[in-house]
Amino acid sequence: MPKNTHEDRGRSFKPGKARGEGPGKRPALPASPKPGRPKPQPSEFGRTKPERSKPQRSNPGAPRRGHSNTTPSGTGPSAPAQKSPSPLESFSIAPDCLRALGILPGILDEIVPLSRNHRLGLGRNIRSLWEDLTSEREHRASEYLSAPAYYSAYLRYFLPWNLLRLSSFLPTLKLRLDDEATIVDLGSGPLTLPIALYLSRPDLRTKKLGIICTDRTERILKVGLTLFESLCLRLGGSLPPWTITLRRHQFGIALPEKADLLTAANVFNEFFWKSKVPLGIRASLTARQLLGYLKDTGSVLLVEPGDPRSGSFISALRAALSSFGAPPLSPCPHVNDCPMPGIFRSLEGPGSDGGARFKPKNAQAVVMPKHREKYPWCHFTIGADMAPGWLKALSAEAGLSKEKLVFSFLLSAIPDPLAATAKLKDGKANLRVLSESFALPNGLSGRYCCSPKGYTLLRYSSLRVFFSSGDLLPLPQAKAAGTKEEKDEKSGAILLSY
Ligand SMILES: C[S@@+](CC[C@H](N)C(=O)[O-])C[C@H]1O[C@@H](n2cnc3c(N)ncnc32)[C@H](O)[C@@H]1O
Repeated sequence: MPKNTHEDRGRSFKPGKARGEGPGKRPALPASPKPGRPKPQPSEFGRTKPERSKPQRSNPGAPRRGHSNTTPSGTGPSAPAQKSPSPLESFSIAPDCLRALGILPGILDEIVPLSRNHRLGLGRNIRSLWEDLTSEREHRASEYLSAPAYYSAYLRYFLPWNLLRLSSFLPTLKLRLDDEATIVDLGSGPLTLPIALYLSRPDLRTKKLGIICTDRTERILKVGLTLFESLCLRLGGSLPPWTITLRRHQFGIALPEKADLLTAANVFNEFFWKSKVPLGIRASLTARQLLGYLKDTGSVLLVEPGDPRSGSFISALRAALSSFGAPPLSPCPHVNDCPMPGIFRSLEGPGSDGGARFKPKNAQAVVMPKHREKYPWCHFTIGADMAPGWLKALSAEAGLSKEKLVFSFLLSAIPDPLAATAKLKDGKANLRVLSESFALPNGLSGRYCCSPKGYTLLRYSSLRVFFSSGDLLPLPQAKAAGTKEEKDEKSGAILLSY
């Protein structure tokens, strides 16, 4: 069994190399560490990281250590002087998700017990499923999750890591879900996304929701429903007033119901790239299919592993959905073009349907990263240290230990005309922190961000403030009016400071 320590998704973005783990692409295996002091690692945006990822905050509302408005000392002449902000949104694993993961092994042992032989082979089966799911070769059986060895591996390894990812950002999403709303979850597997919604969105637990869980494999849906009910009963003492319907279904085939919210987590990387049609055209076709499942004011939530290919998919779908009238709501802090599109360039091209497309009003040109074949891709990174000990041990047994979790996501919505008018009134400009931190001259730290201006490098003193990947911050003021905007020479990013 391999002894490598794996990171969840890639650090550096090298052409032609897929990396990462979990359902998605395969990471480049790190070379055996040399004895002695570890070398600083390049970050996924090509900078050198000064520090290991900070521990995950369990309470997003709590004040952050070191988060003060005092003036920095000893940080050199170019130290930023702006008042440090409180994040408007932060990613943080939901406490009930951690409680659920604590009791998950016991529940799984009851509902899908493992024989002695299966237990002995569990690490190997997890590894083998991981290799299947992350391989670029499309040799996996279409109903792979109906094989007991594979669904046990999925439930005990992939499901809990996916719950941690999902429950870290779901609480930040503005979901339009009233009583009687319909959610359709595509490629639901063991109902990972509905379970994550229950664990991380207590506000939805009293709503009368209809949730249609679809997958091409029926067996895993049934196991998922039993698991969902057991978790609700153990954690909350009762079931939420949700009507859950399991449906065997292949993406693309029409459903009789229309969704207020259509979700698909870790699904598209399984088949989207099989087609050789140019990315922009494929994205337009997929966006049309997704919108076909929605009500007139519905929303789409796509979640993918945070590898470069998934980031490109998310950026392409963002553009395509937007062009059909469903602009991005999250994580994007603007509706302008995406400044972190990976390999995605344009929706146009030979075969483009040329149909009616919208350009969001007020959409402006953005600053892109310095020209390169593959741009940085939009993804977030959270620490894996909050995971329970049993999950860390099982992951190590499979040779898939993690230090961090990465993911990309997109919530796009067909605007509700009334809500859209209200939103225009409080249109403050924000910035979303993406990358991990890296060292800049004069003892300062930097993180790449997305802002309405485009690709942005946020410069700050880590003695004074503490940011995390996923934070949404008020856009810092640029230089005084009349002076030229500062740019980072290495990356081409706009330079802003806190
Ligand atoms: C990696 S699992 C993700 C399950 C769950 N959403 C999660 O995040 O853990 C992908 C799921 O998508 C399903 N799937 C893959 N291709 C599909 C398709 N074309 N139509 C419907 N389901 C599909 C698979 O059967 C599998 O259950």
